[in-house]
Amino acid sequence: MKQRTKKKVYIETLGCQMNMADSERMFGMLEEIEYYPTESMLDADLSILNTCSIREHAAAKTGSYVGKWDKQRKPGSLIAVTGCVAQQEGEKLVKDIRTVDLLIGTHNLHRLPDLVIEAENLHEEAIANGSKEAKLNKGIYKRPQVAEIWEELPELIPETPVSRKTKHFAWVNIIYGCNYKCTYCIVPKTRGDQRSRSIAEVKQEIKGLAAEGYKEIVLLGQNVDGYGMDIGTNFATLLREVHEVAGIERIKFLTSHPCDMTYELIETVAELPKLAKYFHIPIQAGNDEVLKRMARRYTFKRYMELINYIRKLMPDASITGDIIVGFPGETHKQFMDSVKAVETIGYDACNTAVYSPRPFTPAATWEDPISAEEKNERIRFINSVITETAEKQAQRFLGTVQDVLIEGPSARNPARLMGRIFTNKTVNIDCDPEEHDQYIGKICKVEITKANAWALRGQLAKTPALV
Ligand code: 5AD
Ligand code: SF4
Repeated sequence: MKQRTKKKVYIETLGCQMNMADSERMFGMLEEIEYYPTESMLDADLSILNTCSIREHAAAKTGSYVGKWDKQRKPGSLIAVTGCVAQQEGEKLVKDIRTVDLLIGTHNLHRLPDLVIEAENLHEEAIANGSKEAKLNKGIYKRPQVAEIWEELPELIPETPVSRKTKHFAWVNIIYGCNYKCTYCIVPKTRGDQRSRSIAEVKQEIKGLAAEGYKEIVLLGQNVDGYGMDIGTNFATLLREVHEVAGIERIKFLTSHPCDMTYELIETVAELPKLAKYFHIPIQAGNDEVLKRMARRYTFKRYMELINYIRKLMPDASITGDIIVGFPGETHKQFMDSVKAVETIGYDACNTAVYSPRPFTPAATWEDPISAEEKNERIRFINSVITETAEKQAQRFLGTVQDVLIEGPSARNPARLMGRIFTNKTVNIDCDPEEHDQYIGKICKVEITKANAWALRGQLAKTPALV
């Protein structure tokens, strides 16, 4: 390849951890063609919007971002759109948004460096021709657009370099896509069928992370419990293998599906000391009829069996969930079943969202007689119950001493340190800023002095540093 000059790339990431992990892969791939991160799109040569389509108005939001960026962009710089909106909307998006220079879907992200170079070349050509044409009074040149969306998945998942933003914990993709077809969900369309990475490949990546000094890893997938089904292994086996990697102190995983979560998996988490006793298991609704229409393939009873087994083996485990409010046709009684579920389960936290119709999904074509006001009323109510439950749950940490991985100064108050306890809850710690550096990246003993629904407060124990 010819010598390239160094350039700057800015990436704005919307949505879930999967997108954050994809952005880290993009930084890694782009470094190979001499693009280095910048914190501001104002001085970027390439600005990438990594989009999320899980909620409504995603395409409009993409348009308004790009419109704003176009007005502010450095002359000659490029704007790219990646992620789920790109995959979902396809080439229509470059027609609708003329100021996008490059569009790439989720299935062919590994092609990013090649496509960036193609866009750069086309752009240079267009500017050269444009100025010629301008001289001939033929008007302004048309912005060339590069768009590549693969409908089909590649046969092999190409390995790409990753450049991580987080210093002390790292996301590791173990499975891409999802085999479920929940009737409200766009993910099967934007991310495709499930594909597991091999155990050897995952382990290799984690060994590399341990060698770089990472202490914690978070295994990522839309449905981690489905791991291995397509390659003749299972998630519990992967966890045992990963657990052997020396240097890694904590292992977490997201997201679980109640239908594929096994008792063997729960026993494995209970047994292996480095595994965080933390489970994110979306329930989506507390009523069996609604669950059926969502095509979730479990009942509330089955969900509770899992929760009870987790609590039996790990009484202190943290459990979080997701709930959709106002699914088409959800009656008030059915909604109240979700509220009851929150109370019965006793979540440490639970994300809620008002149902939003997504293109290409069955539920989007169903009648939905519930008014927006009613839905907003429901979500406000369930959120208040969740806050109460989470606050009650948090009290069990009060007065205890926890092992906390210190991530850095707190974003809200830089005079404090921020870290996470073993079951994932955030802790803010009073600590003289001059002393911060000696604790960041270490696992410290912290005494919990306050507990509210969202975070804990604590102070470093007398001999805080463990590792
Ligand atoms: N409307 C509202 N919430 C949704 N989610 C997924 N699809 C939709 C939708 N169409 C929520 C689910 C999922 C989380 C990531 O987003 O609760 O678990
Ligand atoms: Fe979407 Fe359902 Fe798959 Fe989760 S399990 S990603 S909600 S289709």
